Amino acid sequence: MWNSRSHFWKGVSSLIPNNRKALIAGNWKMYKTIAETEAFFTEVAPLVKGVTHCEVVIAPPFTALRRAAELAESVGISIGAQDLHWEKEGAWTGAISATIIRETGATFTIVGHSERRQFFGETDQSVNKKIGAALSAGLRAIVCIGETLQERETGQTEAVLNRQLVNGLAGLTEPEFSPIIVAYEPVWAIGTGRTATPEIAQQAHCFIRGCVGQIVSPTVARGLRILYGGSVKPDNIRGLMEQPDIDGALVGGASLQAKSFASIVHYQVMEAAKF
Ligand code: PGA
Repeated sequence: MWNSRSHFWKGVSSLIPNNRKALIAGNWKMYKTIAETEAFFTEVAPLVKGVTHCEVVIAPPFTALRRAAELAESVGISIGAQDLHWEKEGAWTGAISATIIRETGATFTIVGHSERRQFFGETDQSVNKKIGAALSAGLRAIVCIGETLQERETGQTEAVLNRQLVNGLAGLTEPEFSPIIVAYEPVWAIGTGRTATPEIAQQAHCFIRGCVGQIVSPTVARGLRILYGGSVKPDNIRGLMEQPDIDGALVGGASLQAKSFASIVHYQVMEAAKF
């Protein structure tokens, strides 16, 4: 199993440069029908078409994946699922496998989002199995980690992040890391309007890169893209992106409107030129 995954990504790993390409991903959560997905892409297409300074990903609900993949192709946006099951197929009512996701045209999947951990019993161990399944099917995995408010206030942030990384990434070999992206999403900042300051986020990202350096290798750590997530908006993205270890964002609420998502994608544009 490990070998087949290594083989799949062998050609790709050499393409990931050490100067990390930014990635802006929208996580739609349980929002948008197929009709609403179509309306979003009609509006966003002229705003983000031709963007080359960053990769752009949208993660709609499962039911809209296929239509989104059709519409996103000509715009240069990649499509991702929000979750997956670790088995290829079987008696798992309500679950969706990486193979089924792949068939829709999606090329990414989010794994271990804090809402999955909090409300659906996701553990570091299931995250680890899901990453394996995603890589086997040729999906890139955006692996979410992050501490709760209580964990931060009791000084456990670093221990929690380290545990989530050690257990979530267990058993992965160096070449398997090129399709992996980590998203640091402090639970206290998700959907609360309470963003981590760029300095707090940078501190956590730097810590995460250091952990990956120890768990895997310094080379993998240098090439690893680490996204920030939690109340990212057009007016705070720039400060976050200026931090040396923040390589992009995982955006929830602000990804639902084409204009605000496009403004985030164009984070490098001067204030006045924003949409
Ligand atoms: P938010 O969500 O931007 O609405 O805080 C982020 C996320 O959960 O990925």
